[in-house]
Amino acid sequence: MYNTPLIPMDLKEKTFFLRTFGCQMNENDSEKIAGVLVSCGARPAERAEDADIVIVNTCAVREKSEEKLYSYLGRIRPRPKAGPVLIGIAGCVAQAESEALLKRRPDIDFVVGPDNYLRLPEIIARSGEGKIVADEWSRDWQEAPAALFRRESPVTAYVTIMEGCDNFCTYCIVPFTRGREKFRPLRLIQSELENLAGRGYREIQFLGQNVNSYRDPETGTPFAELLAAAGRTVGLKWVRFITSHPRNFSAELIEAMDASPVICRQLHLPLQSGSTSVLARMNRGYTRGDYLEKIARLRQRMPEISLSTDIIVGFPGETEEEFQDTLSALEAVRFANIFSFRYSPRPRTEAAKGTDDVPFEIKKRRLIEVQNLQKSIQTDFHKSLVGARMEVLAGGPSKKDPAAFAGRNEGYQVVNFRSEKDVTGSFVRVEITGSGPYSLRARIVED
Ligand code: SAH
Ligand code: SF4
Ligand code: F3S
Repeated sequence: MYNTPLIPMDLKEKTFFLRTFGCQMNENDSEKIAGVLVSCGARPAERAEDADIVIVNTCAVREKSEEKLYSYLGRIRPRPKAGPVLIGIAGCVAQAESEALLKRRPDIDFVVGPDNYLRLPEIIARSGEGKIVADEWSRDWQEAPAALFRRESPVTAYVTIMEGCDNFCTYCIVPFTRGREKFRPLRLIQSELENLAGRGYREIQFLGQNVNSYRDPETGTPFAELLAAAGRTVGLKWVRFITSHPRNFSAELIEAMDASPVICRQLHLPLQSGSTSVLARMNRGYTRGDYLEKIARLRQRMPEISLSTDIIVGFPGETEEEFQDTLSALEAVRFANIFSFRYSPRPRTEAAKGTDDVPFEIKKRRLIEVQNLQKSIQTDFHKSLVGARMEVLAGGPSKKDPAAFAGRNEGYQVVNFRSEKDVTGSFVRVEITGSGPYSLRARIVED
């Protein structure tokens, strides 16, 4: 069934609407899904209410992420449009929980997991025959033609280099939604980079659940060399990657980042907890000390590097003392940004077999403490940037005010500035003039 060429199904009279939840990989997958449908003649609709096919690309990582799917389905019901409308569920909930999904929402027509998007035309063609569940996994990489993607941005592109995860952190559903690790051949990644650079893309973000375990399936070339090759691609100005696992974030990788001016001085390195005992229960494979040592080495080589992380509070059995270790780790590292979550038990995971014993009120209080601490760290950090000059890649103008732009700097901070000229998608040089906890303000400068 795999690698079947796209069947030339005619969707010319059809319109589709795609709603995406979850991480960048889901966003990149939605660009692929849209491309597959458009290649068969379908047209995107502005609203779910106007579409013949509604596809929801879902995230299962936390209970709250999954609930977004159900509340969205509730909102677009009764059927958005008169006449036959197909409702399809894609992504991680589709992959991990198709049965529960169909039981809870019998009005769903098809369920399609991340390894089956190239089969969508066939799935749509057959969906008159009853409910279709396509959640098979292949062990091999399935390449989608570069031209297929309907990319959201003309300058910034996501490039998926690996998929799946073999780490089995005890809280995490991802190994069950994305399967085991598989890697995209280096020569295909390189030719996509050249293609993107040739079409005017300036910023690339490599995607994978655990990018630093990447190795070329054909030659064994490791991630550090892939990064170096990306750094040499003519036309690319900024290269980023997400997500790195601290356990296999190696010295070679630090070297590769330092050696190339094109690799952004920015790194997302999920810590999860500052407590060595909690990290062991999470099966993270490193201690608090290991993590802090890696940060020290990174900063020794690249003092200006901008670091971000993920934090989970209220993991089963987390004591007050263990939680204090997370706060002190945040104080020690002083991240530029963090994403913090209350632990939520996920089906099939090891941690969910035990009890979720930290009371909700305590999780809530711990999350607030983490976020308040981080807010004050970010406020101070942003204040220290006032007066600095830097480059910003501009996004589109604000909806309310066409002269107001938001962009990101190399460290991935949000920078707001004004420009009478439309600077969408270009690099502008700015001076930081003001700051808040979550963003910076700036003015364009000439030099
Ligand atoms: N592959 C990435 C991203 C995993 S999901 C990585 O390994 O870092 C993104 C984040 O969601 C995780 O880093 C973790 O902080 C959070 N997360 C995952 N499962 C969770 C759960 N059951 N409860 C709360 N947060 C969770
Ligand atoms: Fe989940 Fe851990 Fe894999 Fe990240 S490394 S996707 S948190 S199992
Ligand atoms: Fe969510 Fe799947 Fe991404 S569970 S975080 S959409 S890999």
